[in-house]
Amino acid sequence: MKIFLDSADIGEVEKWYQTGLIDGVTTNPSLIAKSGRDILQTIKEICAIVKGSVSAEVTALDCATMLKEADRFLSLADNVTIKVPLTPDGLLACKTLSDKDVSVNVTLCFSAAQALLAAKAGAEYISPFVGRLDDIGYDGLTLIGEIVEIFENYDFATNVLAASVRNPLHVVECAKIGADVATLPPKTLEMLYQHPLTDKGLKSFMDDWQKTGQSIL
Ligand code: E4P
Repeated sequence: MKIFLDSADIGEVEKWYQTGLIDGVTTNPSLIAKSGRDILQTIKEICAIVKGSVSAEVTALDCATMLKEADRFLSLADNVTIKVPLTPDGLLACKTLSDKDVSVNVTLCFSAAQALLAAKAGAEYISPFVGRLDDIGYDGLTLIGEIVEIFENYDFATNVLAASVRNPLHVVECAKIGADVATLPPKTLEMLYQHPLTDKGLKSFMDDWQKTGQSIL
């Protein structure tokens, strides 16, 4: 499973990309707002840091303007993926762009039926939101499983990109189910490293090592 960073913070992108663990980046209008920076400049800078896919989300609601915004993003770098909302206009923009071999990420997916439409529209990625479904009392991970099963049935080329991933359990379950990508905010990535037995075991090894009085170097 690929791991994308869900952030528009250049410092976080630099920090996490240099770990070698990050395959791409996703952004959205809220993350751009949180960064307080210009969207085009930010996307350009992220694309220069990261070799893989960088999702830049359109903010128009109609297809024609979405396509104009997509052109602006596409002029910035070769690794831009155009992110469109799962609306009739968004899917029309997806179809238009994917017909020209442009990489498209269809976002704000909350049902398997929506994911099926995105695949038919030629999306490279479909982004079902796990955490936001959990928030309203549905099981976001069940949705990931349904979409993976449907795409396998028909051999769709669309990648399942699990979004709104909040904790390590989400990540592990997405990997077990067979999601192609999970996009994680820095906070969730930090959590993946953590285990109390790792900390306890390391402390015990270090304490014992000190007692030997040895040095490897
Ligand atoms: C992904 O592309 C979305 O931008 C993101 O994962 C949404 O996550 P949130 O529900 O934590 O805002």
